Amino acid sequence: MISSPSPWIPTLTLLLLSLPIIFFFTSHILPPPPPPILSLPDELDDLTLFRRAAAVDSHPTHKPISRLGSTNRKPKIAFLFLTNTPLHFAPLWERFFNPNNSVQIKNLYNVYVHSDPTVKPYVKPPGGVFSQDRFIPAKQTFRGTATLIAAARRLIAAAIIDDPDNMFFTLVSQHCIPLYSFQFVYNSLFEINDHQVAELKGLKYKSFIEIIDQDVNLWDRYTARGNNVMTPEVKFENFRVGSQFFTLTRRHGLMVVKERRLWKKFRLPCLRPQSCYPEEHYFPTFLSNVDPDGCAGYTLTRVNWTDSVNGHPHTYYPSELSPELIFNLRRSSFALPYMFARKFSPDCLKPLMEMADEVSRNQLSWNFFQHNCTYRC
Ligand SMILES: *[C@@H]1O[C@H](CO)[C@@H](O)[C@H](O)[C@H]1NC(C)=O
Ligand SMILES: *[C@@H]1O[C@H](CO)[C@@H](O)[C@H](O)[C@H]1NC(C)=O
Ligand SMILES: *[C@@H]1O[C@H](CO)[C@@H](O)[C@H](O)[C@H]1NC(C)=O
Repeated sequence: MISSPSPWIPTLTLLLLSLPIIFFFTSHILPPPPPPILSLPDELDDLTLFRRAAAVDSHPTHKPISRLGSTNRKPKIAFLFLTNTPLHFAPLWERFFNPNNSVQIKNLYNVYVHSDPTVKPYVKPPGGVFSQDRFIPAKQTFRGTATLIAAARRLIAAAIIDDPDNMFFTLVSQHCIPLYSFQFVYNSLFEINDHQVAELKGLKYKSFIEIIDQDVNLWDRYTARGNNVMTPEVKFENFRVGSQFFTLTRRHGLMVVKERRLWKKFRLPCLRPQSCYPEEHYFPTFLSNVDPDGCAGYTLTRVNWTDSVNGHPHTYYPSELSPELIFNLRRSSFALPYMFARKFSPDCLKPLMEMADEVSRNQLSWNFFQHNCTYRC
């Protein structure tokens, strides 16, 4: 039996012929133009700011708090908000910082905001703990570029300069929410038990930042700026990836604002945007190189990477919110639970506030800002 010519052959031929055309078009449509880099004037401004921060810390204007009882000043946590949209969760954070207008904790934190000034309409300070004077001089930021490293360093430098009592720097975004009370976060970071008096133990404290050296995308990310670009400053075996949002000790914050060597490489634009998350690479790489023992190796901010799309984690919507969800988000396999979480859509504010309000009304409901919650804890 003689088989007739397969009907696939003309189709295949046509496909093969059209390949160059498809290739031509895709290579002209993709890739998108390279993202802009930090401008020279911005970079010079930053250098001035970072030098000021380094100088403040080497010549403290008043004595650091160190000895028990020698001063009534207490160490503080600086909360650094990095945003390019309005701060949708400001009321929730306000509740976190001011449960019941409690005076007790007012002197235990500071808030700083870096808000992209080019975003239209301009992000208005929502007031309260997010008053105008908490907004630091900010510059334009772009996803997938070193501008996000620069913005984080600006926040750290501003917090170092502003208050010598800022001992931890917690970076969050406008999509982050707190999962515990401020008091719980504070006591956990400073290792204060209920009956213990606060004592700053200086070098003992660790930074909470994820540091990963085993990852299928590690090489792609290392070479995102081209081959042989990162050496000699950053060797592949020293390259790490990790969490975008972290809590650093003051000591590490200071090292970060003084850092120049790695920055020279990480500031370079990426050729492959899909492998380019400079801020998730710079901080873990630098800190794991200079002080691995000073890093806990995990972050306090929970992110759900299941089914992530285009480098974005899962975004929670109101229909997903429940006390159980928050309970699950807190659970970690590390020494400390997760204390913050992202990413939440802006319309989660109302249900989250309602959950927080339940606290006072219903003993059995989940206790939003108390760690000793009665609901399944
Ligand atoms: C809030 O204030 C009320 C009344 O002043 C008090 O009973 C309650 O314990 C306070 N709650 C917190 C979380 O401070
Ligand atoms: C993480 O996100 C996925 C969907 O992307 C969802 O099914 C899952 O329940 C989420 N996990 C938690 C702990 O919220
Ligand atoms: C939880 O804390 C509240 C207020 O701080 C307290 O009244 C209550 O007894 C505590 N519950 C437990 C189980 O420890």
